[in-house]
Amino acid sequence: MIDAPALLPYDGRREVGLRSLYETVFPAWEREPTEQVLARLASGRYGGDVLLDAGGGVIGFAIVDFVTEVRAAVVTFVAVAGDWRGRGLGERLVLAAVARFRRDERADGLYVEAEPRPARLYRRCGFRPLALDYRVPHYDCAMGTQPMSLMFLPRGEWPANVPGTRAAALVRHMFIDGYGVRADDPRLAAQCRRIPYQVRVSDAELSPDQ
Ligand SMILES: CC(C)(COP(=O)(O)OP(=O)(O)OC[C@H]1O[C@@H](n2cnc3c(N)ncnc32)[C@H](O)[C@@H]1OP(=O)(O)O)[C@@H](O)C(=O)NCCC(=O)NCCS
Repeated sequence: MIDAPALLPYDGRREVGLRSLYETVFPAWEREPTEQVLARLASGRYGGDVLLDAGGGVIGFAIVDFVTEVRAAVVTFVAVAGDWRGRGLGERLVLAAVARFRRDERADGLYVEAEPRPARLYRRCGFRPLALDYRVPHYDCAMGTQPMSLMFLPRGEWPANVPGTRAAALVRHMFIDGYGVRADDPRLAAQCRRIPYQVRVSDAELSPDQ
């Protein structure tokens, strides 16, 4: 019988394995510079959980960024090694990220940017998409953007809307601080123009298991 992978808080001891999996799983356009991710984990700004195989190798991780300026947390990266996918480990990691958010009083909402396929996984873990035309910058290209869903999970009751000013402050933070774009980048200005006064939470009326 194969042992179930162990889920542990990342404490810096698995840096080589984490680095290798991160650079294998994410293409360059989707990747925040590795050194920056590791430095932010070391400083405590990012919180991480890792999955280890029986030999102690890193086979998955989830990273959460606490954006205290806007009382939000963001699931920045979730990955499972190719051979291990499709067995519920991604869900285990996303639920660990949700638990990390719930334990930490600094954020009122947890957000994630998702392409259509992972969006299904996040929805199963309780997230709902914001009704927003959302396009994120590529890390490795001055002009590229990628359409995504911006998904949300509140700490308490489901609101019908997220205030546009709050969404814009978070987007501004993610674009500048996460993607590394300049404050005058036209992609940031265009995205802010696509944020309405109130951003509707899609399906907020449904219970999380629907
Ligand atoms: C997303 C990912 C972490 C899921 O890991 P997993 O262990 O296979 O997840 P689970 O077995 O718990 O759930 C499977 C779900 O993962 C998602 N998924 C599966 N393969 C995927 C892939 N190649 N890319 C993106 N998402 C995938 C789907 O939502 C799938 O559900 P579905 O069968 O309804 O489509 C893993 O596929 C991965 O590392 N992908 C590449 C990195 C990535 O896209 N990360 C998410 C954005 S940060």
